Amino acid sequence: MVHFRFSVAAGLLAALLLPAPMASAAAPAGSGIRADLLYHNYCSVCHGDKGDGRSRARAGLRPPPKDFTTAGPTLTREVMIAVVTDGKPGTAMVGWKTQLSQAEIAAVVDWTIANFMSGKSTPPVREGVSGTHAHGGRAQDASPASAANMSLPFALGLKGNAVSGRAFYDANCATCHGKKGDGKGPRAYFIRPKPRNFLEPAPRATLNRPMLYEAVSMGRLGTEMPAWSKVINEQQIADVSEYVFQQFIRPKGKAGK
Ligand code: HEC
Ligand code: HEC
Repeated sequence: MVHFRFSVAAGLLAALLLPAPMASAAAPAGSGIRADLLYHNYCSVCHGDKGDGRSRARAGLRPPPKDFTTAGPTLTREVMIAVVTDGKPGTAMVGWKTQLSQAEIAAVVDWTIANFMSGKSTPPVREGVSGTHAHGGRAQDASPASAANMSLPFALGLKGNAVSGRAFYDANCATCHGKKGDGKGPRAYFIRPKPRNFLEPAPRATLNRPMLYEAVSMGRLGTEMPAWSKVINEQQIADVSEYVFQQFIRPKGKAGK
């Protein structure tokens, strides 16, 4: 097991991280915001690499993630910044203000507009044009608790086996995410950004089975989270996602033994 874990993880990280022109050279202390990486790390999982909402997570979300490429003129920069800051109640769109600085939020919104919406809805229209938007969403602090439908199954008719998943998790994921899912595995200390702590409110409100599947299979660009679809099959991804879901995201009493 131990041997397997290290060889798999090391090989993967080398294979996955080397070719990517990545963050290390990116952040000259402070100002060097990489909006492209922010989008890929925080937004593309739902809104898709092309901003059209065609992500794998889409199947699991009602309403589905916004398709920026067809957004109407009411989706102004101001509205976008408000939604990204505070979230959009009743949807899986959570507020990012605890994770991203105001400058990062503005940067990722501008990047989204430039890459997916250019020529469509950039002119800043005044506030109030869109009554349905989460302006002033700070009322409930955009509590993500009602965000994702946590009872959704995996796509593709997959059913995860948490017992097999547990073995795989302990051998391959715990080194970063910790046996308890708290993000404090032995390797976590050397990693930026830190491995996700699954016990926090945000992951518990958003990481339903489709989201877990997506994250595990695609990885997280710009982080050390590998894209496991390159090494394990769909059933194995479902198994380990099921284990994470039952054990950390939605623990029923105490899953496992
Ligand atoms: C967990 C999935 C998810 C993630 C991650 C996510 N979004 Fe969203 N987003 C949604 C959903 C769902 C909606 C609501 C769509 C709707 O109301 O039609 C939405 C709505 C939005 C809207 C408002 C669109 C509108 O018309 O009101 C903006 C802007 C937006 N997202 C930007 C972002 C940005 C930028 C990021 C990354 C920082 C991000 N989102 C991350 C799922 C997500
Ligand atoms: C080399 C360290 C490492 C290993 C091994 C690893 N992860 Fe990750 N994981 C991370 C990092 C870093 C992130 C990104 C955290 C962030 O975006 O802030 C992450 C993110 C995630 C996320 C996304 C959480 C979210 O909120 O979007 C999930 C789910 C996840 N990992 C599950 C797993 C599973 C399951 C395994 C084993 C199959 C695994 N990880 C193995 C480091 C690792």
